[in-house]
Amino acid sequence: MPPRIDYRRCTGAGTCVSVCPANVFDFIDGKGVVMRPADCTECEECVRACLKYAVTLEHSRTGKPRVLVMYDSVSGRTATLAKAIAEGVRQAECSVAVLEASGEAIPEVLLADAVLLGSPSQFENVSEAIKGLLESLRIIALANRPAGGFGTFGWELKGEDGIITRKLGDARLATFDRELWVKDDEVEARRDDAVAFGRSFGEWVKGQLSGAGPA
Ligand SMILES: Cc1cc2nc3c(=O)[nH]c(=O)nc-3n(C[C@H](O)[C@H](O)[C@H](O)COP(=O)(O)O)c2cc1C
Ligand code: SF4
Repeated sequence: MPPRIDYRRCTGAGTCVSVCPANVFDFIDGKGVVMRPADCTECEECVRACLKYAVTLEHSRTGKPRVLVMYDSVSGRTATLAKAIAEGVRQAECSVAVLEASGEAIPEVLLADAVLLGSPSQFENVSEAIKGLLESLRIIALANRPAGGFGTFGWELKGEDGIITRKLGDARLATFDRELWVKDDEVEARRDDAVAFGRSFGEWVKGQLSGAGPA
């Protein structure tokens, strides 16, 4: 499918016009405009290049759903959990990318069919990096994109329980009905639970994308 430009965010930098190898855009009245949609090869360059995250691209549904598992991790527990969850998502026959959260990773969120966000508990909340990412998602407004959350904690689960899913819902993404939180010293022992969580998330994503779930 050709890209779409959100003109509420486009500032007319013309990056999409200059990076597109297939000459899909023209620069008209100070904005990039999709003029030759049939020529788009879905190379994703325009999505990655736009500094305002104004370009989105829905992939032609020929392959496996693409799930992004994005996490923040200070001492490695959430990273370990993310990898086990990703294995489960893969078992559900989705393709998976696992990435550390950062502002630069936002185009990867735009390009994914579904996203799972993971955070360490910090002061009974998600970490600052995940807070920032959730705020960017709220602004970018990827309505109905399937999404879910997971995390690790050290002492006691309080305000952070369910927080990622709630914030994803506030950002109008379609949310998975479970959020997995694992205590830091149980991440290895609960690996099977993490894989099972990833697998059921992957199955749910497939249902959502095929239109089986609520829009
Ligand atoms: C600054 C800081 C604040 C934390 N706050 C909490 C907390 O409020 N509740 C809790 O249960 N654990 C808390 N922890 C423990 C971490 O959430 C826990 O060890 C987690 O597994 C670390 O994940 P990571 O290895 O991916 O960084 C805190 C840790 C740090 C470093
Ligand atoms: S995805 Fe690639 S080919 Fe398609 S419009 Fe963007 S830059 Fe051009």
